[in-house]
Amino acid sequence: MENTSWAFDRPITSPFARPRGLAGRLAGRFMLLTNEQRELVALLGVRPGDHVLEVGYGPGKLVRMLASGPAARICGVDPSAEMREQAARPHRGDDRIDLRLGTADATGFGDGVFDGAVSVNNVALWPDLGAGVRELHRVLKPGGKVVIAWHGGSLPGRIAGTLKLPEDKLAMIRGSMGELFEDVERHELKALTAFTGIRPRTEGP
Ligand SMILES: C[S@@+](CC[C@H](N)C(=O)[O-])C[C@H]1O[C@@H](n2cnc3c(N)ncnc32)[C@H](O)[C@@H]1O
Repeated sequence: MENTSWAFDRPITSPFARPRGLAGRLAGRFMLLTNEQRELVALLGVRPGDHVLEVGYGPGKLVRMLASGPAARICGVDPSAEMREQAARPHRGDDRIDLRLGTADATGFGDGVFDGAVSVNNVALWPDLGAGVRELHRVLKPGGKVVIAWHGGSLPGRIAGTLKLPEDKLAMIRGSMGELFEDVERHELKALTAFTGIRPRTEGP
């Protein structure tokens, strides 16, 4: 895993961004308690039978919410073995849930297999924004929906407020999505700024 990202000009060392060891496990527990995710479920709009991918699931708060909904399959990738352990623990024996090690730009899943794909609080940690967006486009079915969200929103708490991305970086996310997805929209949730887009049903060569 590279320690640099497209969004920051300094190496990333925080246990929240690169959870490993005891500090990573504690960071995971903290994120489970504090990170706000419920509004994303509505934004993703999961329908009965959908196959959904979460990139950067961390301790698995959103996976838990998705698991209590109508999705037929919930898959995820995260580069952290500690996060995989925490996120997978409540779902042992549930064969709808498939959480793997992987990254936004190399999920390991096949072409066009998901109805929805979501990334929350990790887009600014990706080494290469365009490579991650291309990978989400690749794994979505035509007509599938992508949601990319980062700390911010209309009522961010103290932590989300300090982690907000500047407008030029948000514009880069929107621009990168706009190259491959249609109907790209920005949503100010309570503690997240989110972008949604749809993989076009027909695409040029
Ligand atoms: C701040 S945590 C957010 C976890 C969770 N999505 C949440 O909001 O509670 C960031 C997560 O992104 C993961 N991550 C870091 N780089 C990544 C990458 N290139 N692709 C996918 N996930 C990544 C980290 O391992 C970590 O679990």
